Amino acid sequence: MVTVTGAQLTEQFADFISRIQKATSTIELEAIDLEAFGKKSGVYTLLRKSLGNIPDVEERKKSGERFNHDARRVEQALEDRRSDLKILELNERLQTETIDVTLPARAETQGKIHPVTQVIEEITAIFADMGFSVAEGPDIESDEMNFDKLNIPESHPARQMHDTFYLQGNSNNPGGDGKTLLRTHTSPVQIRTMKAGKPPFRFIAPGSTYRCDSDITHTPMFHQVEGFVIDKNIHMGHLKGCIIEFLKAFFELDNVPVRYRPSFFPFTEPSAEVDIGCTRSREEIKIGAGADWLEVMGCGMVHPNVLRNCGLDPNEWQGFAFGMGVERLAMLKYGIPDLRTFFESDARWLKHYGFDALAIPSLIGGL
Ligand code: PHE
Repeated sequence: MVTVTGAQLTEQFADFISRIQKATSTIELEAIDLEAFGKKSGVYTLLRKSLGNIPDVEERKKSGERFNHDARRVEQALEDRRSDLKILELNERLQTETIDVTLPARAETQGKIHPVTQVIEEITAIFADMGFSVAEGPDIESDEMNFDKLNIPESHPARQMHDTFYLQGNSNNPGGDGKTLLRTHTSPVQIRTMKAGKPPFRFIAPGSTYRCDSDITHTPMFHQVEGFVIDKNIHMGHLKGCIIEFLKAFFELDNVPVRYRPSFFPFTEPSAEVDIGCTRSREEIKIGAGADWLEVMGCGMVHPNVLRNCGLDPNEWQGFAFGMGVERLAMLKYGIPDLRTFFESDARWLKHYGFDALAIPSLIGGL
């Protein structure tokens, strides 16, 4: 039978308190805690159980009080030392562990850059090298910016051709006024930038565009990059040179056959569509000299009406504009066969066609 004596208690108590105060780590402290209060064989756990074995009532009561007092003090000592040690250990870690914030990020990133983003970055790098800045405009446009100011009046057949998404009524636009729409091209950025600044202008405007069209070669949302130059004495030769330089840099070819085919856009006159030489086989299209041609963008000299609509005198200022489809260029350059896969958010597709987040396109580092 186990009995407790006062001397035993005193001895245990003094021993625990001194060891707790001397403990130098939380691990050491937890070991003492276990030794004192462990469920199975903790010293105080066993002592509490044995209290009932003291035959004398008075003595049992006294020992009980003494026990409670001691156990509480030991618990308190553990707690105090625990919080002291936490601070000490933190300070020690702060002093010994350092991180070099100047170290480069790790290369093994998991995420990938979407080909649309990549191609926009590439296009931007090429035009930045030619002195173009980047302009932006909103995806939700007015019919005035998207059409009227671009010399596309209401009755113009081009409005039908654009398959426009008009915004339905909402709290901002009750009933839908037929005036707010999702931009069908990036050309309204021409108007916004001209109205906001003073010529000369030389910028590109990448962004999302929307048309109510969906089949194997069309998605309702796609991306364009607009190019725009206004200065004095700008002529079609500048347009041609600029686009040829761009195509050579983009496709990384020294010699790309380029053809300017007469076309029509209400906001340019004359207008042309740009074709590049290619070879088509059943499985793939190869860019470069070959038997076939492939359309890659629309362009032309900015129509005098567009300049007038933005308060510029067409006798003083002239320029050119072009617009290209980003997905189309991405498909050609990277051999991506199906347009719709761009927007399916399939992680396996992105892993295959995506780009390293740290390989930022530049003309020096490579596109
Ligand atoms: N905005 C035209 C389109 O979406 C492209 C274009 C831009 C043509 C600029 C000429 C000049 O089809």
